[in-house]
Amino acid sequence: RGAAPTILVIFGASGDLTARKLIPALFNLGLDSLLPSDFHLIGFGRKPIEDEAFRKIARESIEEFSRRPMDEELWGDIEPGIHYHSGGYDEAEVYRSLEKKIKGIESSAGREMQLVFYISTPPTVFEPIIENLGASGLSTHLVDGKPGAKVIIEKPFGRDLESARRLNQVIGRNFDESQVYRIDHYLGKETVQNLLVARFANAIFEPIWNREFVDCVQITVAESVGVGSRGGYYDESGALRDMIQNHTMQLLSLIAMEPPVSLDPESIRDEKVKVLKGIQPLALDPADKADVVRARYTEGLMSGKQVPGYLQEKNIPGDSSTETYAAMRLMINNWRWKGVPFYLRSGKRLARRVSEIAIQFKRPPGILFSESKKYDVAHNTLVIQVQPDEGMTLLTNSKVPGLETRTQPVKMHFRYAATFGSNTPEAYERLILDAMIGDSTLFIRGDETEASWKLMTPVLESWKSLGQHGLGAYAAGSWGPAEAERLLGMHGHEWRQTGI
Ligand code: BG6
Repeated sequence: RGAAPTILVIFGASGDLTARKLIPALFNLGLDSLLPSDFHLIGFGRKPIEDEAFRKIARESIEEFSRRPMDEELWGDIEPGIHYHSGGYDEAEVYRSLEKKIKGIESSAGREMQLVFYISTPPTVFEPIIENLGASGLSTHLVDGKPGAKVIIEKPFGRDLESARRLNQVIGRNFDESQVYRIDHYLGKETVQNLLVARFANAIFEPIWNREFVDCVQITVAESVGVGSRGGYYDESGALRDMIQNHTMQLLSLIAMEPPVSLDPESIRDEKVKVLKGIQPLALDPADKADVVRARYTEGLMSGKQVPGYLQEKNIPGDSSTETYAAMRLMINNWRWKGVPFYLRSGKRLARRVSEIAIQFKRPPGILFSESKKYDVAHNTLVIQVQPDEGMTLLTNSKVPGLETRTQPVKMHFRYAATFGSNTPEAYERLILDAMIGDSTLFIRGDETEASWKLMTPVLESWKSLGQHGLGAYAAGSWGPAEAERLLGMHGHEWRQTGI
């Protein structure tokens, strides 16, 4: 899986993501001999930094955040290829000098090289960067006469349907869709990639993966962290924009999609979009069985330690009505799923960090082993643990050994760590490699992001108009607000307790 000689330009090079994820990911690709034979990194940022100083920052980020220790020989190979370019994101002149730098690298390498532009800045400068890449001609850079430029775009991809559409138009004016890689880092997680394999490389699940057998699907993305130092960003965002619209909706589409005709990126993404388009608009009136719940955390105990509530966090305005927790019920109006609720929830400062997908099957008819103390017949449930402690668990009912017939739910476990060891690649390693190679399967297509925003924008608008009215509360360290229990209770379901 080797990529062509590459110059990777990271916009937002002095940011948190670059240090925590991107540079360590590049280093780990290098350790696995997956960096292109000729590889250069240009950090682009507003702060003036010398090449030497940026190399030092890069080294420190590897030492602090890489999953594997520093390797001096590899560092010796990649260090000279690390450069820095400073200037305003909206200054045409800065892009001309960037082009000069790129030409210089190409001429000393004696070849044209593909350009990968990684936009990891605050969203306010996405558009000027993309426009300038177009205006400077960098977006139409050629390698051996063929298109040789790509752009990777970090989240947030818009903040509602209108802004997402506008951003797609700006991109479309400057790049062809085949050059565009919209990141959702959940797609780079091993367990998420495994969803397609679990569903379509096994014969036993697909026949029961439908409304005949499935009672409900529950997707939980729980975090124990609070907003930390990201208050400024988070208060403008909230759980729905930060997690639900992107990460949990991606999990949902991979779980609910039809089998694609092939594994090529377009076939897979076509099926994902179809699922999103089939989801019914959500009921929003709080007085009338609304499909959505929102809340924010108040102070509470996390692992025995008192933590502040959301309103006491840094940079949160006192009159904020931003949700740190959102839950919803989605109904997919298609042949496979009609009538099966998909429940989604995500929040910060919940009891534990855990992301999992539970496919809860219908109960058996209850003729032989009916539900009594003696016969504890649970729903068969397939639980896919996305993180941490990645794995899959199948819950079945079994006879308790003994002279009388008693039943009890039991679990069959597959754990990644036990089977494959624990040193799996990080999401960003896979995603950067795929973008360099030109495989867009694990990236979001423009119409996909619009379909998801189309569904979520009315929810955001309704919450905005309600302000703090209807915004629930939950104590930090709990499993979320009581309203989320009621949401499922109204439909005869309850949240599954997470964990294996
Ligand atoms: C990011 C969100 O997209 O995902 C963060 O902006 C969140 O708020 C993070 O903490 C969670 O990612 P992961 O990989 O730790 O589950």
